[in-house]
Amino acid sequence: MRVDRFLSNLPRFNRRQVRLLLVERRVSVEGVTVSDPHHEVREFSQVCVDGEVLQAGKPARYFMLHKPQGCVSATADPQHPTVLDLLNEPDKGTLHIAGRLDYNTTGLMLITNDGQWSRRLTQPTTKLPKVYRVETAQEIGPEYAVTFKAGLYFAFEDLTTQPAELELLGPTTARLSIIEGRYHQVKRMFGHFNNKVIALHRERMGPLQLDPSLAPGDYRALTDDEIRQV
Ligand code: URA
Repeated sequence: MRVDRFLSNLPRFNRRQVRLLLVERRVSVEGVTVSDPHHEVREFSQVCVDGEVLQAGKPARYFMLHKPQGCVSATADPQHPTVLDLLNEPDKGTLHIAGRLDYNTTGLMLITNDGQWSRRLTQPTTKLPKVYRVETAQEIGPEYAVTFKAGLYFAFEDLTTQPAELELLGPTTARLSIIEGRYHQVKRMFGHFNNKVIALHRERMGPLQLDPSLAPGDYRALTDDEIRQV
C-alpha cells in the first residue's frame, strides 16, 4: 500500500495532515525518511512519524526445503505428513508454499509469509523458469523437445503451455524447464506421449537452486542475497 494511504487510514491523520507530514519529512519507513506519497508500505515495514512507531512491521520469513517423497504440499492434511511438519519454526500458520509439488515429487520447495515475493516466483508473467529432473518409463524421443517448445494444449484449462526447454540427459532422463506451474504439468506433458513420469525432482525455481547440502527433509532460511534475487 502507498504510504499516504497507509497513514490516512489511521484514525489520527486526515489526508491534508498526511501530505504535510510527508512534505515536512517527518515520516520514516524502515528507518529511512520518506516524502514520496507513493512509497510502498508493507506488513513487514516499520513505519514511524516523528520517531514514534505506528507499525512495528512483522518479520518476513523465507525458507528453502528439500522436499522428500511421501509428504503433501499443503499446510494441513488429515492423512499425510505435510511439508510444514518438517519445519521447526514458530507461527507456521502464517507461512505458505510458493509452488506446490506432488506427493512423490522431491526437491526445491520455497516457503514464506511474503505473498508478493512468492507471486513473483510463481506467476507465469514473470517468466521465471522452474527446472525439473525427470525420469520416465519409456525412452524420450527427439520429438518431445519440439512439441514442448511449441507448447501443449491443455483442454481442462483451455490454454497452450508456454515454450519449455527439454535437455536430454539419458534415454529416459531429462531436464525440463517450464515457465508456468499448472496442475501436474510435467506429468501431463510427458503423458501427451503416453510416457509415464516415474521420478520427478525440482532443481531450481528462477534464480534459486536447491542447496546440495540439504538432505531430503532438511531445510534452511534463505540468505538475504537469495531473497533479493527474486
Ligand atoms: N509437475 C508435476 O507433474 N508434478 C509436480 O510435482 C511438479 C510439476
